[in-house]
Amino acid sequence: MFEKVKISPSILSADLCNLEKEIKAIESAGAGLVHIDVMDGHFVPNLTFGLPLVKRIREITSLPLDVHLMISNPLDYVEKYLDAGADILTAHIEAGSPEEMNRFARRVHAAGKKAGVALRPSTKPEAVDDVISSFDMVLAMSVEPGFSGQKFQSSVIDSMAEICAIAAAHNCSPLMQADGGIGVGTAQKVCASGADVLVCGNACFCNDDYSKAISAIKVDAELGRAAGLKKQQLLAQYM
Ligand code: DX5
Ligand code: ZN
Repeated sequence: MFEKVKISPSILSADLCNLEKEIKAIESAGAGLVHIDVMDGHFVPNLTFGLPLVKRIREITSLPLDVHLMISNPLDYVEKYLDAGADILTAHIEAGSPEEMNRFARRVHAAGKKAGVALRPSTKPEAVDDVISSFDMVLAMSVEPGFSGQKFQSSVIDSMAEICAIAAAHNCSPLMQADGGIGVGTAQKVCASGADVLVCGNACFCNDDYSKAISAIKVDAELGRAAGLKKQQLLAQYM
């Protein structure tokens, strides 16, 4: 758990013709990471960024690069994305067997970087049961992967709580990341359910003032986290 909830703006919603300016702007507006959505047109019905862009972004920011692989064959690309500059490299559980996912995490850790495992909204939380202790972060999708600007799916709230319970049963506490339709209102809900890192595309970049947008999401997130902790204390007291 981070001491404070971190915001990871997704550059999928940025002005791509001015990407350096956009990244510098979110950096001074209080972003904690930069979220880069890599899509292959196969695992998801969209094509976005690849290795050259990650490499170039690495050169212009000191923020950690949070690379979300929405690709069918993540094991073919682990070292390539780490060499390009990824600090957290996340692959989807639906893209490999538990053995392959554990191998993915081992190879990320061998390079001294953090490994994440992501789930589509329809994937049952138990899918991570055999791999969760290998990972530093679980990314719970709150929209179907592929596009920014979609409506938040509230099923992620229960999924996130179940994933936290699975982690506790394995005596581990990976960071919890929520991705899709997160902004003021939904930030509070996912943070009450255990989220530590919030991916924000439209809620960050579709604003005139990034600093105000990120600060408002942070306030909402901390309100949610405080409510979640309070609820846990009360449950422990009464149940
Ligand atoms: C969707 C991506 C998200 C997306 C988030 O497949 O993984 O990171 O860019 O965008 P918003 O916050 O607009 O839903
Ligand atoms: Zn993403």
